[in-house]
Amino acid sequence: MADAPPEDLTTLERFLTLSGHLSVEADRAFGAASTPAELETARIALLGDQRGRLRDFQVALGRLPKEDRAAAGRQFNLVKTTVTSRYEQRRAELAPAGAATPAIADPTMPGRGRWRGAKHPVTLVIEEIESIFRELGFTVARGPEAETEWYNFTALNFPPNHPALDAHDTLFLEGGGLLRTHTSPVQIRTLQRHPPPIRVIIPGMAYRRDFFDASHAPAFQQVEGLCVDEGVSFVDLKATLTRFGQRFLGASRTRFRPSFFPFTEPSAEMDVACGVCGGVGCSVCKGTGWIEFAGCGMVHPAVLEASGVDSERFSGWAFGMGPGRLALSRYGIPDIRLLYDGDVRFLEQIGS
Ligand code: PHE
Repeated sequence: MADAPPEDLTTLERFLTLSGHLSVEADRAFGAASTPAELETARIALLGDQRGRLRDFQVALGRLPKEDRAAAGRQFNLVKTTVTSRYEQRRAELAPAGAATPAIADPTMPGRGRWRGAKHPVTLVIEEIESIFRELGFTVARGPEAETEWYNFTALNFPPNHPALDAHDTLFLEGGGLLRTHTSPVQIRTLQRHPPPIRVIIPGMAYRRDFFDASHAPAFQQVEGLCVDEGVSFVDLKATLTRFGQRFLGASRTRFRPSFFPFTEPSAEMDVACGVCGGVGCSVCKGTGWIEFAGCGMVHPAVLEASGVDSERFSGWAFGMGPGRLALSRYGIPDIRLLYDGDVRFLEQIGS
Protein backbone atom coordinates (compact mmCIF):
# COMPACT_ATOMS: atom_id res chain seq x y z
CA MET A 1 0.00 0.00 0.00
CA ALA A 2 1.49 3.37 -0.99
CA ASP A 3 2.13 5.38 2.13
CA ALA A 4 1.30 9.00 1.26
CA PRO A 5 3.20 11.32 3.61
CA PRO A 6 1.05 14.10 5.13
CA GLU A 7 3.00 16.70 3.12
CA ASP A 8 1.17 15.44 0.04
CA LEU A 9 -2.09 16.67 1.49
CA THR A 10 -1.40 20.35 1.75
CA THR A 11 -3.70 21.52 -1.05
CA LEU A 12 -7.41 20.91 -1.44
CA GLU A 13 -6.84 19.30 -4.80
CA ARG A 14 -4.33 16.77 -3.44
CA PHE A 15 -6.54 16.15 -0.45
CA LEU A 16 -9.59 15.37 -2.58
CA THR A 17 -7.69 13.18 -5.01
CA LEU A 18 -5.79 11.17 -2.41
CA SER A 19 -8.76 10.72 -0.10
CA GLY A 20 -10.72 9.45 -3.12
CA HIS A 21 -7.99 6.87 -3.73
CA LEU A 22 -8.36 5.73 -0.15
CA SER A 23 -11.81 4.21 -0.74
CA VAL A 24 -10.39 2.18 -3.62
CA GLU A 25 -7.42 1.16 -1.53
CA ALA A 26 -9.75 0.08 1.28
CA ASP A 27 -11.86 -1.96 -1.13
CA ARG A 28 -8.78 -3.79 -2.29
CA ALA A 29 -7.26 -4.30 1.17
CA PHE A 30 -10.43 -5.54 2.82
CA GLY A 31 -11.29 -7.71 -0.20
CA ALA A 32 -7.83 -9.31 -0.10
CA ALA A 33 -8.18 -10.24 3.58
CA SER A 34 -9.23 -13.87 3.80
CA THR A 35 -9.23 -14.33 7.58
CA PRO A 36 -10.52 -12.15 10.43
CA ALA A 37 -6.90 -11.60 11.54
CA GLU A 38 -5.86 -10.30 8.12
CA LEU A 39 -8.93 -8.10 8.06
CA GLU A 40 -7.98 -6.68 11.44
CA THR A 41 -4.48 -5.84 10.14
CA ALA A 42 -6.06 -4.02 7.20
CA ARG A 43 -8.46 -2.22 9.53
CA ILE A 44 -5.62 -0.96 11.71
CA ALA A 45 -3.65 0.20 8.66
CA LEU A 46 -6.61 2.19 7.36
CA LEU A 47 -8.82 3.07 10.28
CA GLY A 48 -6.44 2.70 13.26
CA ASP A 49 -6.56 5.52 15.81
CA GLN A 50 -2.81 5.99 15.96
CA ARG A 51 -1.35 5.30 12.56
CA GLY A 52 -4.31 4.60 10.32
CA ARG A 53 -4.23 6.25 6.89
CA LEU A 54 -7.52 8.00 7.59
CA ARG A 55 -5.93 9.71 10.56
CA ASP A 56 -3.36 11.37 8.25
CA PHE A 57 -6.24 12.90 6.35
CA GLN A 58 -7.84 14.09 9.54
CA VAL A 59 -4.63 15.79 10.61
CA ALA A 60 -4.13 17.26 7.14
CA LEU A 61 -7.71 18.54 7.16
CA GLY A 62 -6.99 20.81 10.08
CA ARG A 63 -3.99 22.24 8.28
CA LEU A 64 -5.75 23.17 5.06
CA PRO A 65 -6.56 26.83 4.44
CA LYS A 66 -9.77 27.73 6.22
CA GLU A 67 -11.79 28.28 3.07
CA ASP A 68 -11.04 24.74 1.86
CA ARG A 69 -11.97 22.96 5.06
CA ALA A 70 -15.71 22.64 4.44
CA ALA A 71 -15.23 20.88 1.10
CA ALA A 72 -12.41 18.72 2.42
CA GLY A 73 -14.45 17.90 5.54
CA ARG A 74 -17.42 16.70 3.50
CA GLN A 75 -15.17 14.49 1.44
CA PHE A 76 -13.41 13.22 4.55
CA ASN A 77 -16.72 12.22 6.17
CA LEU A 78 -17.82 10.50 2.99
CA VAL A 79 -14.59 8.52 2.69
CA LYS A 80 -14.70 7.61 6.37
CA THR A 81 -18.27 6.31 6.08
CA THR A 82 -17.46 4.37 2.92
CA VAL A 83 -14.32 2.77 4.30
CA THR A 84 -16.04 1.90 7.57
CA SER A 85 -19.01 0.30 5.89
CA ARG A 86 -16.74 -1.68 3.50
CA TYR A 87 -14.97 -2.97 6.56
CA GLU A 88 -18.21 -3.93 8.33
CA GLN A 89 -19.40 -5.69 5.20
CA ARG A 90 -16.23 -7.74 4.86
CA ARG A 91 -16.28 -8.55 8.54
CA ALA A 92 -19.78 -10.00 8.21
CA GLU A 93 -18.66 -12.03 5.19
CA LEU A 94 -15.70 -13.48 7.08
CA ALA A 95 -17.67 -14.23 10.27
CA PRO A 96 -17.51 -17.95 11.12
CA ALA A 97 -20.44 -19.85 9.64
CA GLY A 98 -21.55 -21.15 13.05
CA ALA A 99 -22.22 -17.65 14.32
CA ALA A 100 -25.54 -17.35 12.55
CA THR A 101 -27.46 -14.10 13.01
CA PRO A 102 -30.16 -14.54 15.62
CA ALA A 103 -33.66 -14.87 14.22
CA ILE A 104 -35.54 -11.58 14.12
CA ALA A 105 -39.27 -11.13 13.86
CA ASP A 106 -39.24 -9.20 10.59
CA PRO A 107 -36.19 -9.84 8.41
CA THR A 108 -37.13 -7.01 6.06
CA MET A 109 -36.71 -4.41 8.83
CA PRO A 110 -33.94 -1.90 8.02
CA GLY A 111 -30.75 -2.42 9.99
CA ARG A 112 -29.80 -0.07 12.76
CA GLY A 113 -26.34 1.49 12.43
CA ARG A 114 -24.19 1.05 15.46
CA TRP A 115 -22.98 4.31 17.00
CA ARG A 116 -19.24 4.28 17.51
CA GLY A 117 -17.71 6.57 20.09
CA ALA A 118 -15.08 9.10 19.06
CA LYS A 119 -12.16 10.63 20.87
CA HIS A 120 -12.68 14.18 22.07
CA PRO A 121 -10.83 16.79 19.97
CA VAL A 122 -8.85 17.96 23.01
CA THR A 123 -7.81 14.35 23.69
CA LEU A 124 -6.58 14.10 20.10
CA VAL A 125 -4.53 17.28 20.58
CA ILE A 126 -3.07 16.03 23.89
CA GLU A 127 -2.12 12.71 22.30
CA GLU A 128 -0.39 14.55 19.50
CA ILE A 129 1.46 16.82 21.95
CA GLU A 130 2.56 13.74 23.89
CA SER A 131 3.84 11.99 20.82
CA ILE A 132 5.83 15.02 19.63
CA PHE A 133 7.46 15.42 23.05
CA ARG A 134 8.14 11.69 23.28
CA GLU A 135 10.20 12.05 20.13
CA LEU A 136 12.15 14.79 21.91
CA GLY A 137 12.97 12.47 24.82
CA PHE A 138 10.22 13.45 27.27
CA THR A 139 8.13 11.06 29.36
CA VAL A 140 4.60 11.63 30.65
CA ALA A 141 3.93 12.31 34.35
CA ARG A 142 0.69 12.96 36.22
CA GLY A 143 -0.41 14.33 39.58
CA PRO A 144 -3.53 14.87 41.69
CA GLU A 145 -6.24 17.42 40.82
CA ALA A 146 -7.03 18.11 44.47
CA GLU A 147 -3.95 19.83 45.87
CA THR A 148 -2.65 21.58 48.92
CA GLU A 149 -1.93 25.28 48.97
CA TRP A 150 1.74 24.43 49.43
CA TYR A 151 2.09 22.51 46.14
CA ASN A 152 -0.19 24.79 44.14
CA PHE A 153 1.24 28.12 45.36
CA THR A 154 3.85 28.21 48.15
CA ALA A 155 6.43 25.86 46.65
CA LEU A 156 5.94 27.65 43.33
CA ASN A 157 7.18 30.87 44.88
CA PHE A 158 3.83 32.68 45.04
CA PRO A 159 4.05 35.35 47.76
CA PRO A 160 1.53 34.75 50.58
CA ASN A 161 -0.69 37.66 49.50
CA HIS A 162 -0.75 36.84 45.78
CA PRO A 163 -4.14 37.63 44.17
CA ALA A 164 -4.38 34.09 42.71
CA LEU A 165 -4.90 32.85 46.26
CA ASP A 166 -8.07 34.88 46.38
CA ALA A 167 -11.31 32.89 46.49
CA HIS A 168 -12.27 34.77 43.32
CA ASP A 169 -9.77 32.80 41.28
CA THR A 170 -9.29 29.55 43.16
CA LEU A 171 -11.80 26.86 43.99
CA PHE A 172 -11.14 25.91 47.60
CA LEU A 173 -12.37 22.57 48.88
CA GLU A 174 -14.42 22.16 51.99
CA GLY A 175 -12.25 20.82 54.76
CA GLY A 176 -9.02 22.21 53.27
CA GLY A 177 -7.13 21.95 50.03
CA LEU A 178 -8.10 23.28 46.64
CA LEU A 179 -8.58 22.26 43.03
CA ARG A 180 -5.25 22.91 41.34
CA THR A 181 -5.37 26.11 39.31
CA HIS A 182 -2.65 24.82 36.98
CA THR A 183 -0.59 21.67 36.39
CA SER A 184 2.55 23.35 37.78
CA PRO A 185 2.30 21.67 41.25
CA VAL A 186 3.24 18.44 39.45
CA GLN A 187 6.62 20.09 38.71
CA ILE A 188 7.28 20.03 42.45
CA ARG A 189 5.98 16.48 42.89
CA THR A 190 8.14 15.26 40.02
CA LEU A 191 11.30 16.98 41.28
CA GLN A 192 10.72 15.60 44.78
CA ARG A 193 10.44 12.08 43.46
CA HIS A 194 13.13 11.96 40.77
CA PRO A 195 16.60 13.47 40.81
CA PRO A 196 17.56 15.42 37.64
CA PRO A 197 18.01 15.01 34.71
CA ILE A 198 14.27 15.36 34.17
CA ARG A 199 12.30 15.79 30.99
CA VAL A 200 8.59 15.34 31.48
CA ILE A 201 5.32 16.60 30.17
CA ILE A 202 2.28 16.59 32.43
CA PRO A 203 -1.20 16.60 30.91
CA GLY A 204 -4.15 17.15 33.22
CA MET A 205 -7.16 19.20 34.27
CA ALA A 206 -6.93 22.60 35.94
CA TYR A 207 -9.72 24.60 37.57
CA ARG A 208 -10.37 28.30 37.96
CA ARG A 209 -13.28 30.46 38.93
CA ASP A 210 -13.34 31.94 35.45
CA PHE A 211 -16.21 33.05 33.26
CA PHE A 212 -17.22 30.52 30.63
CA ASP A 213 -16.68 32.57 27.46
CA ALA A 214 -15.38 32.03 23.92
CA SER A 215 -11.81 31.52 25.13
CA HIS A 216 -12.07 30.55 28.85
CA ALA A 217 -13.50 27.50 30.59
CA PRO A 218 -13.63 27.05 34.38
CA ALA A 219 -12.32 23.49 34.00
CA PHE A 220 -9.80 22.94 31.25
CA GLN A 221 -6.85 20.81 30.25
CA GLN A 222 -3.26 21.93 30.48
CA VAL A 223 -0.04 20.33 29.40
CA GLU A 224 2.91 21.26 31.57
CA GLY A 225 6.50 20.69 30.48
CA LEU A 226 9.56 20.51 32.71
CA CYS A 227 13.22 20.04 31.88
CA VAL A 228 15.85 20.16 34.64
CA ASP A 229 19.50 19.27 34.19
CA GLU A 230 22.96 20.74 34.51
CA GLY A 231 23.62 23.66 32.17
CA VAL A 232 20.09 24.03 30.80
CA SER A 233 19.43 27.51 29.38
CA PHE A 234 16.70 29.62 27.82
CA VAL A 235 18.07 28.61 24.43
CA ASP A 236 16.95 25.02 25.08
CA LEU A 237 13.50 26.24 26.04
CA LYS A 238 13.09 28.37 22.96
CA ALA A 239 14.48 25.71 20.64
CA THR A 240 12.23 23.00 22.08
CA LEU A 241 9.04 25.05 21.96
CA THR A 242 9.80 26.37 18.50
CA ARG A 243 10.41 22.85 17.30
CA PHE A 244 7.16 21.78 18.88
CA GLY A 245 5.33 24.69 17.21
CA GLN A 246 6.68 23.66 13.82
CA ARG A 247 5.71 20.03 14.30
CA PHE A 248 2.26 20.77 15.66
CA LEU A 249 1.26 23.76 13.56
CA GLY A 250 3.23 23.33 10.37
CA ALA A 251 4.02 26.70 8.87
CA SER A 252 2.08 28.84 11.39
CA ARG A 253 3.90 31.85 12.83
CA THR A 254 4.93 31.90 16.50
CA ARG A 255 6.32 34.65 18.76
CA PHE A 256 7.77 35.01 22.28
CA ARG A 257 6.83 37.94 24.54
CA PRO A 258 8.28 38.78 27.96
CA SER A 259 5.87 37.86 30.74
CA PHE A 260 5.74 37.13 34.45
CA PHE A 261 5.12 34.02 36.57
CA PRO A 262 6.25 33.72 40.21
CA PHE A 263 7.79 30.30 39.49
CA THR A 264 9.88 31.24 36.43
CA GLU A 265 12.52 33.90 35.88
CA PRO A 266 12.79 35.13 33.21
CA SER A 267 9.28 34.34 31.96
CA ALA A 268 7.77 34.48 28.50
CA GLU A 269 4.53 33.92 26.69
CA MET A 270 4.58 32.07 23.39
CA ASP A 271 1.84 32.95 20.90
CA VAL A 272 0.74 31.36 17.65
CA ALA A 273 -1.05 33.07 14.80
CA CYS A 274 -4.80 32.46 15.24
CA GLY A 275 -5.88 29.51 13.10
CA VAL A 276 -9.54 30.55 13.12
CA CYS A 277 -9.16 33.97 11.47
CA GLY A 278 -5.66 33.52 10.05
CA GLY A 279 -4.36 36.45 12.10
CA VAL A 280 -6.99 39.02 11.09
CA GLY A 281 -8.76 39.14 14.46
CA CYS A 282 -11.84 37.25 15.74
CA SER A 283 -13.60 36.26 18.98
CA VAL A 284 -11.18 33.41 19.71
CA CYS A 285 -8.10 35.64 19.56
CA LYS A 286 -10.01 38.66 20.94
CA GLY A 287 -9.19 40.64 17.84
CA THR A 288 -5.41 40.39 18.26
CA GLY A 289 -4.70 37.78 15.59
CA TRP A 290 -2.62 35.79 18.11
CA ILE A 291 -3.48 32.99 20.51
CA GLU A 292 -1.51 32.65 23.74
CA PHE A 293 -0.40 29.13 23.55
CA ALA A 294 2.15 28.60 26.28
CA GLY A 295 3.44 30.39 29.34
CA CYS A 296 7.06 29.48 29.94
CA GLY A 297 10.35 30.43 31.50
CA MET A 298 13.42 29.33 33.43
CA VAL A 299 12.48 27.50 36.63
CA HIS A 300 12.98 29.91 39.55
CA PRO A 301 15.81 28.80 41.88
CA ALA A 302 13.36 29.05 44.81
CA VAL A 303 11.20 26.36 43.14
CA LEU A 304 14.18 24.03 42.74
CA GLU A 305 15.17 24.59 46.38
CA ALA A 306 11.59 24.01 47.61
CA SER A 307 11.69 20.66 45.80
CA GLY A 308 15.04 19.71 47.32
CA VAL A 309 17.08 20.28 44.14
CA ASP A 310 20.43 22.10 44.34
CA SER A 311 19.85 25.32 42.38
CA GLU A 312 23.60 26.06 42.20
CA ARG A 313 24.16 22.89 40.25
CA PHE A 314 20.93 22.45 38.27
CA SER A 315 18.82 24.74 36.14
CA GLY A 316 15.72 24.12 34.10
CA TRP A 317 12.83 25.45 32.09
CA ALA A 318 9.11 24.87 32.19
CA PHE A 319 6.03 25.66 30.17
CA GLY A 320 2.28 25.32 30.48
CA MET A 321 0.10 25.14 27.39
CA GLY A 322 -3.64 25.00 26.78
CA PRO A 323 -4.55 22.10 24.47
CA GLY A 324 -8.16 23.35 24.39
CA ARG A 325 -7.07 26.54 22.69
CA LEU A 326 -4.80 24.59 20.39
CA ALA A 327 -7.80 22.45 19.43
CA LEU A 328 -9.76 25.61 18.54
CA SER A 329 -6.97 26.76 16.34
CA ARG A 330 -6.32 23.31 14.83
CA TYR A 331 -9.92 22.57 13.91
CA GLY A 332 -11.04 26.16 13.28
CA ILE A 333 -13.61 26.10 16.09
CA PRO A 334 -14.75 29.63 16.99
CA ASP A 335 -15.77 29.09 20.64
CA ILE A 336 -14.23 26.98 23.43
CA ARG A 337 -17.71 26.27 24.83
CA LEU A 338 -18.35 24.04 21.81
CA LEU A 339 -15.57 21.77 23.08
CA TYR A 340 -16.86 21.49 26.62
CA ASP A 341 -20.64 21.51 26.13
CA GLY A 342 -20.52 17.80 25.40
CA ASP A 343 -22.77 17.90 22.33
CA VAL A 344 -21.79 14.67 20.57
CA ARG A 345 -23.36 15.79 17.31
CA PHE A 346 -20.72 18.49 17.18
CA LEU A 347 -17.84 16.54 18.74
CA GLU A 348 -18.15 13.45 16.56
CA GLN A 349 -17.60 15.57 13.44
CA ILE A 350 -14.07 16.18 14.64
CA GLY A 351 -13.18 13.26 16.89
CA SER A 352 -12.02 9.96 15.55
N1 PHE B 1 1.16 27.60 35.27
C1 PHE B 1 1.08 28.69 34.32
C2 PHE B 1 -0.38 29.00 34.06
O1 PHE B 1 -1.23 28.20 34.36
C3 PHE B 1 1.74 28.33 33.03
C4 PHE B 1 3.21 28.14 33.15
C5 PHE B 1 3.74 26.89 33.41
C6 PHE B 1 4.08 29.21 32.98
C7 PHE B 1 5.12 26.70 33.51
C8 PHE B 1 5.43 29.03 33.07
C9 PHE B 1 5.95 27.79 33.33
O2 PHE B 1 -0.72 30.04 33.53
